[in-house]
Amino acid sequence: MKHITIAIDGPAAAGKGTLSRRLAETYGFHHLDTGLTYRATAKALIDTGLPFDDEAVAERMALDVDLAGLDRSVLARHEIGEAASKIAVMPSVRRALVEAQRAFSKKMPGTVLDGRDIGTVVCPDAAVKLYVTASPEVRARRRYDEIVASGQAADYDAIVEDVKKRDDRDMNRADSPLRPADDAVLLDTSEMSIEAAFQAAKRIVDAALN
Ligand code: CDP
Repeated sequence: MKHITIAIDGPAAAGKGTLSRRLAETYGFHHLDTGLTYRATAKALIDTGLPFDDEAVAERMALDVDLAGLDRSVLARHEIGEAASKIAVMPSVRRALVEAQRAFSKKMPGTVLDGRDIGTVVCPDAAVKLYVTASPEVRARRRYDEIVASGQAADYDAIVEDVKKRDDRDMNRADSPLRPADDAVLLDTSEMSIEAAFQAAKRIVDAALN
């Protein structure tokens, strides 16, 4: 059987995680949320209490990340996400994490990786590439609903600002900026439910695999 990788990229809170998990379940593939590798590196760095701008220390943390032990519930904190997008601009951190991600992508019978640079850098030869997006307002609303549903207080306007700031940092960094690969299929989920987005993604994958 031919090995298959599905690459899913897109901005913060576009719904890549849910889509990727469901696609992986549907096809029986392994799933890696690459954002968690950046978050785990950021958390390790926060835990050391060392300064944030020391790229050599950050690289060491990145080399130590264990892909088998990634858990979003431990890495969900807002502060960790912010820190992740800051260390994600460091080329030596990216090099270390991309190497681990590439090794993961080769697992049999197939893999789904989601992130910012999967179709462009990590797995440029992926059989299917999806670029999942939605307007900043819709993405902020989804994040707001998630936080409120978990019983915490949230400020919608602050979240919109935050989403835009994160987009700016992810799209305008020098190393591996967020952008759709030339051969990616765009999926704008602004007007779609999670179920509709999943069905649309599945149609795209089925069409590419047949
Ligand atoms: O906070 P959110 O769930 O949207 O993002 P995440 O997927 O957890 O990733 C956190 C940060 O890691 C992002 O803002 C990116 O800057 C960075 N990242 C990256 O540079 N490349 C990836 N393949 C995945 C994440």
